[in-house]
Amino acid sequence: PVKIATIGGGSSYTPELVEGFIKRYDELPIKELWLVDIEEGKEKLEIVGAMAQRMVKAAGVPMTIHLTLDREEALKDADFVTTQFRVGLLDARIKDERIPLSHGIIGQETNGAGGMFKAFRTVPVILEIVEDMKRLCPNAWLVNFTNPSGMVTEAVIKYGKWDKVVGLCNVPISCRKMVGKALDKNEEELFFKFAGLNHFHWHRVWDVDGTELTDKAIQKLYVENDGLRKFGANATRAKEEEEKAAKRAADAGVANIKNISFVAEQIQDLGYLPCMYHRYYYITDDMLEDEIADFKENGTRAEVVKRTEAELFELYKDPNLDYKPEQLTKRGGTYYSDAACELINSIYNDKRTTMVVSTQNKGALTDLPYDSVAEVSAIITAAGPMPISWGTLKPAARGMVQIMKAMEETTIEAAVTGDYGKALHAFTINPLVPSGQIAKTLLDEMLIAHKKHLPQF
Ligand code: NAD
Ligand code: G6P
Ligand code: MN
Ligand code: MN
Repeated sequence: PVKIATIGGGSSYTPELVEGFIKRYDELPIKELWLVDIEEGKEKLEIVGAMAQRMVKAAGVPMTIHLTLDREEALKDADFVTTQFRVGLLDARIKDERIPLSHGIIGQETNGAGGMFKAFRTVPVILEIVEDMKRLCPNAWLVNFTNPSGMVTEAVIKYGKWDKVVGLCNVPISCRKMVGKALDKNEEELFFKFAGLNHFHWHRVWDVDGTELTDKAIQKLYVENDGLRKFGANATRAKEEEEKAAKRAADAGVANIKNISFVAEQIQDLGYLPCMYHRYYYITDDMLEDEIADFKENGTRAEVVKRTEAELFELYKDPNLDYKPEQLTKRGGTYYSDAACELINSIYNDKRTTMVVSTQNKGALTDLPYDSVAEVSAIITAAGPMPISWGTLKPAARGMVQIMKAMEETTIEAAVTGDYGKALHAFTINPLVPSGQIAKTLLDEMLIAHKKHLPQF
């Protein structure tokens, strides 16, 4: 009998997770699911927890769902621990997004200054959780969903000295769907290879007969759909093209990133398919312009999410609702349960499924250190992920991923030690944060704003 502990159980994503476990119950007989939260999340935990209990009852699955604020009780003898918590709640995310933007800098939950501060707040908490796991469930796997997912996973291995950890993200799943759709092929039949870092990975794709289809997918997704640029002189035509492209990507992308055109010639030269988050690095100017416009209309993404969450919890309160509501797709993390539940299933049953995970690189991407965490395609066995070799990257991609990895390492070191110079250096090397006095001003402002959740600084 399997015991799962989910930290941050009050998350609005919990019904996704529960739905994924229900679907797989025959293969993965979970006896107990413990949803853990903190005092501030108690109300959410009770609402979504009751909804989760209705879901398993309606499905006729003999899984017991426990709700608790006592992490130790939840972790005791767990087989898998999943994490989906947000230190400082959405109010902290509002600051991560607003403060950089007030300086004309991208504010985003996992990229740039915002993502780095999310790491500063989260790393100390995940390391406490790992210490608890050493005492209470020393054989468990830690399945991390908490952002920044790659950095949090690397902190667990390097500083927590805990190897049985896998970092997850839904973006690779969406990328596969997007490519399958663009090529008009069944994605299950295509072979994909991914490599890079969380929210900074590229992918290549092959057909059943071994033909590489990467360039063709680039053509379909980023050249033919490059409406605004190609028809720039003809505004009406450009708008039509953009709308068509947006429609095509709507059910395949992620809800929190708009389908703004990349610069076609650059992606063609790259020769790899980018992930949605590459927009922040490849077309920073367009992304910033869009973020400013969006902010004027709707506030930050965190504020939009707050409203969506309120709507969701109103639905969850309905004593007749016993299935995951459609409205959850408004959140960026759709398909997350496919990743989490399939990963657990694959480890538990040694299924050897190929998935994209954040795991120790172990040579899969020769351009990154052997022991650092990369987001790569891997075969998921009972012994964990076995990364598939990508080889080396072209210089243009290699240079950027190496800077990003150094930024991650420096950010994690700052998060662990509370070293001000390290934090400033991490800001300096992050491509989305300007260097010099502005970096210091921004860092100081954010350190003060987040003081309550940064005991190490
Ligand atoms: P949320 O704001 O709903 O937070 C989830 C729960 O965590 C809340 O109920 C909160 O009370 C609780 N919490 C906060 N601190 C805690 C702690 N110390 N211990 C236990 N619980 C704690 O967040 P959300 O929007 O559901 O997202 C949860 C996390 O998942 C975030 O870190 C988010 O960035 C991440 N996420 C990751 C992906 C991915 O692709 N990996 C996708 C979506 C969201
Ligand atoms: C994306 C990502 C997550 C990200 C989230 C934001 O798809 O993979 O890592 O942080 O969804 O979603 P939200 O709805 O909270 O803006
Ligand atoms: Mn993600
Ligand atoms: Mn910088």
